[in-house]
Amino acid sequence: MMKIGSVTIPNKTVMAPMAGITNLPFRLMVKEAGCGLVCSEMISANGLIYESKKTIQLMDSVPSEKPLSVQLFGSVPEIMARAAEIIENSGADILDINFGCSVRKIVKSGSGVALMRTPETAEAVLTAVRKTIRIPLTIKIRTGWDSTGDQALEISRIAENCGVDAISVHPRTASQGFKGYSDWNLIGKIKNRLSIPVIGNGDITCADDAVRMFETTGCDGIMIGRVAIQNPLIFSQVAARLKGEPEPAYDIPNRFRIMKRYLDDSIAYIGETHACRIMRSRLCWFVKGLPDAAKFRESVKRLSSRQEAIGLIERYQENFEERLLLK
Ligand SMILES: Cc1cc2nc3c(=O)[nH]c(=O)nc-3n(C[C@H](O)[C@H](O)[C@H](O)COP(=O)(O)O)c2cc1C
Repeated sequence: MMKIGSVTIPNKTVMAPMAGITNLPFRLMVKEAGCGLVCSEMISANGLIYESKKTIQLMDSVPSEKPLSVQLFGSVPEIMARAAEIIENSGADILDINFGCSVRKIVKSGSGVALMRTPETAEAVLTAVRKTIRIPLTIKIRTGWDSTGDQALEISRIAENCGVDAISVHPRTASQGFKGYSDWNLIGKIKNRLSIPVIGNGDITCADDAVRMFETTGCDGIMIGRVAIQNPLIFSQVAARLKGEPEPAYDIPNRFRIMKRYLDDSIAYIGETHACRIMRSRLCWFVKGLPDAAKFRESVKRLSSRQEAIGLIERYQENFEERLLLK
């Protein structure tokens, strides 16, 4: 278990917020696959206060995914506080502020990782938001604008003083984007200086990596992003390893069960036509590395109905199982 302020998380795993990916159906999928805490994609404070329909939809939630952390981005303290209130009133369990996005448009507006080089603004934002909401407040940071990590240490100290309840650290610099490696030493350094929980993030690809991050950094929880797209069961695998139990296998029945669930939840949420269009690429996530994956990718390219999708998935699964039997 892990505690963030008053919220208890059933295990020490967190799904990383990912724009364009971590919508409600995706979060339900990883939750079922054992994730302790799910997070929305980043939501614009301006979009919320101007009541943009699309922005408000990003807060859609259902009880079975709880606890839910909703991530906010912006840089104007008053606007951030008003947006935070909207998020709290929507029923979110935790509010997270984005200090890591390095996309040019976001940085230009002073938000995301730009906040790491403007500590006064960061402090003003955190103070305004903390005063406004009662739910736990967290932030997600990068290394900063150079590789020393000094800005990460400064921002995390400010955050703790402002009453932030936990910090996630993705130790890459602003200019690194997702290139190179994340510097896990920085996670350990921040953990040593803070008394609030520190969640380590960056380059975890399997349960062994997660265990190594816990052991080498002393972090309180781990956050997983890209690899969860290919293997949502990684959360159960990590949780099992931490309990000293055998890891559940990401085997064929599990892959195809999770795939169908994701398809059906997406159809229920955004409708069959839209969901099928999106699934043309997303179903391919689940067959990466399997034999005949290229053929499957080709077959789902023009997917337009649930019936067709289930037919293609089942045919692929049957072929795959026959192949295993023939071996
Ligand atoms: C497609 C994509 C979208 C992302 N969107 C967000 C986001 O909305 N908010 C955020 O804080 N980080 C975002 N990130 C960063 C991830 O949360 C995470 O920090 C990063 O992928 C490193 O973790 P990983 O190595 O486990 O993938 C995104 C990353 C990717 C690849």
